[in-house]
Amino acid sequence: MADKVRIGIIGAGNIAQSAHIPAYLAQKDVELYAVYDIKESRAREVAEKYGFKYAAKSLEELVGMDELDGISVCTWNNGHMEAVIAAANAGKHILCEKPMAMTVAETEAMAEAVRKNQVTFMMGFVSRFRSDSKVIKELAEAGRFGDIYYAKCGFIRRRGTPLGWFTDLSKAGGGPVIDIGVHIIDLTWYFMGKPDPVSVSAVTYSKIGDYKTKGVSRWEALDTDELVFETEDSAAALIRFRDGSAMTVDVSWAINGKERGFYSEIFGTKAGASLEPFCIYDEVEGYLMDSTPVVEQQDAFFNEIRHFIDCIKGNQEPIATLEDGMAVQKILNGIYNSARLGQEVKL
Ligand SMILES: NC(=O)c1ccc[n+]([C@@H]2O[C@H](COP(=O)([O-])OP(=O)(O)OC[C@H]3O[C@@H](n4cnc5c(N)ncnc54)[C@H](O)[C@@H]3O)[C@@H](O)[C@H]2O)c1
Repeated sequence: MADKVRIGIIGAGNIAQSAHIPAYLAQKDVELYAVYDIKESRAREVAEKYGFKYAAKSLEELVGMDELDGISVCTWNNGHMEAVIAAANAGKHILCEKPMAMTVAETEAMAEAVRKNQVTFMMGFVSRFRSDSKVIKELAEAGRFGDIYYAKCGFIRRRGTPLGWFTDLSKAGGGPVIDIGVHIIDLTWYFMGKPDPVSVSAVTYSKIGDYKTKGVSRWEALDTDELVFETEDSAAALIRFRDGSAMTVDVSWAINGKERGFYSEIFGTKAGASLEPFCIYDEVEGYLMDSTPVVEQQDAFFNEIRHFIDCIKGNQEPIATLEDGMAVQKILNGIYNSARLGQEVKL
């Protein structure tokens, strides 16, 4: 491998330009090598703006570049599978944006290609790379909370439906469950020690749909011209794990209730923890004690990309693995199946 790790981007939209590219640019040992987008003009513009050496005209051209080491997959959700399989078959290391894909079957096809070609695959579960998340995970692994038997989490936006392809089922695969639920479900499950999910009981609703509320902002895909609303806009679920532990999750892009943002709470036999607000709930010398670890908040995307580069260099193993992406996908699709059938489903 050259001194610098050569990186390619597939899908040069908002998350590529606002998070991945700046985080790669902030690394000393990375060269932005090539970029591909189904919009050819976008690939050219992004290459020029950020200094990529090449703007590829096709997926095959990009993954076929001999000197490329690793690729960030930042397409719409319906493009993840094709991009990951092509990259893996070309022997490139992969960082895949969340969700891993739209269905469990897609994740299985991706896993087959990754395993066959023995490339590094890392999920873009960026919340794991927050400083406060790292503390909770470290304390959990050290046994500080005892046996974690229950967790509550959610991501509640009052009016925060993203604009663009996110509400188009064929491109997204689902609404807030697959878009933002994926972050909080993954993170909470990770805190719990990644127990084996066995069943899900869930409801999803599409009640607010598109709206014209004033004074609020939303995430915008780069293209917002062809708007359709085919997904849910809120959901709730109970997920049971083989070891008897369970998690409840609430998500919404739009709901008539209090804006709550992102939260995760875990409950253990010795202590508990919460993220947003960041607090450890303990009993010390017979007194209930609430404490907040003091850590500098770091840029989670910078940390995620740094970890990917270290994995490519063989210095680290991905902390957000292929198997993690697949397990979380099983939960996400279990939520949709349960809601559709109106009953608990086995995973
Ligand atoms: N980690 C996070 O917090 C976070 C935040 C936002 C989005 N995302 C994820 O990032 C991905 C992209 O979201 P976005 O907001 O950047 O959307 P976007 O629409 O702004 O960007 C996607 C880009 O990919 C291109 N594209 C679509 N399909 C393609 C394909 N098959 N091959 C090549 N290019 C293709 C589009 O033309 C567009 O330029 C999604 O999977 C989304 O879930 C993650």
